Amino acid sequence: MSMFPGFSAGTRLLVTGGAGFIGSHVVDAFLEAGAEVTVLDDLTTGDPERLDPRAVIRRVDVTDAAALDEAVRSARPDVICHLAAQIDVRVSVATPAVDARVNVEGTINVLEAAHAVGARVVFASTGGALYGEGVPVPTNEDTLPRPGAPYGTAKYCAEKYIGLFNRLHGTEHSVLRLGNVYGPRQSPGGEAGVIAIYCGLASEGGVPTVFGDGSQTRDYVYVGDVAAAFVAPYGTVGPASGTSDTGKGSTVLEVLDHIAAASGRDLPPRFAPRRPGEIQHSTLDVTRVAADLGWTASVPLEKGIAATYAWVRSGSPVRQQA
Ligand SMILES: NC(=O)c1ccc[n+]([C@@H]2O[C@H](COP(=O)([O-])OP(=O)(O)OC[C@H]3O[C@@H](n4cnc5c(N)ncnc54)[C@H](O)[C@@H]3O)[C@@H](O)[C@H]2O)c1
Repeated sequence: MSMFPGFSAGTRLLVTGGAGFIGSHVVDAFLEAGAEVTVLDDLTTGDPERLDPRAVIRRVDVTDAAALDEAVRSARPDVICHLAAQIDVRVSVATPAVDARVNVEGTINVLEAAHAVGARVVFASTGGALYGEGVPVPTNEDTLPRPGAPYGTAKYCAEKYIGLFNRLHGTEHSVLRLGNVYGPRQSPGGEAGVIAIYCGLASEGGVPTVFGDGSQTRDYVYVGDVAAAFVAPYGTVGPASGTSDTGKGSTVLEVLDHIAAASGRDLPPRFAPRRPGEIQHSTLDVTRVAADLGWTASVPLEKGIAATYAWVRSGSPVRQQA
């Protein structure tokens, strides 16, 4: 029996970027709901070991339109969750054209391939990186995005193509603007979330660095909740868009308190100067996603952090259920 409305066993799902942190949890959620799952990933940051062995994986780069089209035609998906992306904001600043190629052109290629087989697309956009500075907090979907980096600009542009395809072809593609996603399988390197980094430090007896006074807020959302949000549009009628988040901001110092509680260790931080350009408060309004998709986050921060810390403590195995 499916736990999701409108979903039946044998529904075919394709996940681009499915070997990544969030994508692998989306794969698990759809497998649990009875779907047949194919993953397309070029494995730049992805790892096939993250995947449930029931998922079929093919190494495909979304910027290669011909290879993508062939892979989508052979998988014949009903739904495509599009998560493949260049996610590093600093890379996007250093090489904006490279970022746009993956995040804009790659998304257009996915839309074209989806069009050829009549599949519905659910796109992973971003919240915090989209809206930029000086917007009302919590921020809702009516706010005009003014991204501060090429990454957010490319995601916004990709959203615009999704809206265009819906008008042009009468499709029902959806957009999810994700907050700060955290949980097991998140790599602590690079641009990864602060929670993965602090859990690693707590486990190794290191000292966390807090930039500024630690009062900056973010909307941290557990990856299992986000995976459920990707399944939610499938049960809705018409294109849906929304912000999958908790609607509640938490400070960096609160995060450290929860990690200290989970690890049973005191975690006095080292304070460093505030980083230039860092947004002080970012929290997303979740009213519309609740109304449109009937989705709300269900895992409280302390519980999600405890699960993430337990995963780090157990040696950060690549594949573990959330
Ligand atoms: N992590 C967050 O907090 C967060 C917040 C907002 C939005 N998002 C979005 O969610 C999605 C997944 O992010 P994640 O945190 O799991 O990152 P991730 O790096 O773990 O996953 C991205 C996946 O895409 C694959 N990929 C990259 N370029 C590709 C290409 N050209 N062709 C095919 N595959 C390619 C990578 O190998 C990887 O498996 C991204 O679209 C990201 O922009 C993430």
